[in-house]
Amino acid sequence: MMTNFFQERQGTLHVEDVALPDIAAQFGTPCYVYSRAALTAAADEFRAALNGVVDLTCYAVKANGNLAILNLFARLGLGFDIVSGGELARVLAAGGDPAKTVFSGVGKTVAEMEAALTAGILCFNVESAAELSVLAATAARLGKVAPVSFRVNPDVDAKTHPHISTGLKDNKFGVPFDETRALYRQAAATPSLRVVGIDMHIGSQITELSPYREAAEKLLSLVQMLEADGIALEHMDIGGGLGVCYRDEQPIALTDFAQMLREVFAGRSERLLVEPGRRLVASAGVLLTRILYLKSGASKNFAIVDAAMTELMRPALYEAWHPVNAVTRRAVMTNGGAAADSEKCWDIVGPVCESGDFLAQARPLVLREGDLLAIGVAGAYGMAMSSNYNARPRACEVMVDGNEITMIRAREEVKKLWEAERILSK
Ligand code: LLP
Repeated sequence: MMTNFFQERQGTLHVEDVALPDIAAQFGTPCYVYSRAALTAAADEFRAALNGVVDLTCYAVKANGNLAILNLFARLGLGFDIVSGGELARVLAAGGDPAKTVFSGVGKTVAEMEAALTAGILCFNVESAAELSVLAATAARLGKVAPVSFRVNPDVDAKTHPHISTGLKDNKFGVPFDETRALYRQAAATPSLRVVGIDMHIGSQITELSPYREAAEKLLSLVQMLEADGIALEHMDIGGGLGVCYRDEQPIALTDFAQMLREVFAGRSERLLVEPGRRLVASAGVLLTRILYLKSGASKNFAIVDAAMTELMRPALYEAWHPVNAVTRRAVMTNGGAAADSEKCWDIVGPVCESGDFLAQARPLVLREGDLLAIGVAGAYGMAMSSNYNARPRACEVMVDGNEITMIRAREEVKKLWEAERILSK
């Protein structure tokens, strides 16, 4: 977590030039805190490493769809990967360019297709024969031509957590490799469709280059078969999935990723696209939370904090490991010092009524009630997956830029939770 943007100064954790306790005092906890410089640096790293290889980086909105983040990325020239009409609306509201937006997902509805056709997106990443016919009919009805790319399932093991692996033939995603060629022929022969690309996405939090290479080679072999059928593509989309370091993982260097793409696609003229989510935002955010109570059970010590699985679901859902740092470092007492200030092994848990409601387990920390903790690498799939379970209003989000703090999402008000609900009249 200790990157240039999140550093300890005089014993207190800072985001850029702002001390986290100041944010807690001003905005309360739990609170997501992002570093604008970290987001910009992540986007710049993609641009620099993939320059001359990848033509368009489409940020996967699902990782974190806050309008301020989408707007920042739009201003940095990024495109977007969306998976719903809601995400399309977010991109448009944030000033994103629909012509740089690709629409993925196995279950697009007719209404979502209509919205995307009207907005003029770059392409639909079509995931089944059934979806293709609905898209063709929808476009024809609107008098439009739908740009089509097929998401191919390359049947490659991404070597990641089973819940976030998507490129195996047993996964629900993509068109089976062997069926793709026939679907391209069908699409090419349909007047309301225009074949523009091919795409893949084999999983998330991938830290090995070899599955990408294997899948990219399969993709290319398919593109060559299509060529033989007289079908030329404008782009090839490698998907997202580039992993980050939560604990001790070794992320793929983007320069190695670029080199692999250069090798596999040497001599090809199609534009290359990528759809990273996590890699652009994960390390740019922390979840700031306050310790409500310390409690020692028979075999474990619990630090009960005001954030929960409702704010960060990843530990409960995938047993994901996130770094936990005390915001203010306490001196460890040795030689019979106060018991409260000795290092102990803590489970960091939330107030939600589920045993799965933990943010971290067995962490050696020096803690006191009322202390602040920063849960690190929380910028991706944190706020985006948050919920209102236990009638908990969603956290506030702030963006730090140097010594400036901007609230980019107000803490949800409790009364908003039932605003759309109705009591029976009799
Ligand atoms: N493109 C498609 C079609 C996707 O399905 C995804 C993510 C991405 C791009 C972006 O993948 P990334 O670069 O972020 O790995 N909630 C899980 C991750 C689910 C990822 C789903 N698809 C987690 O918290 O680990």
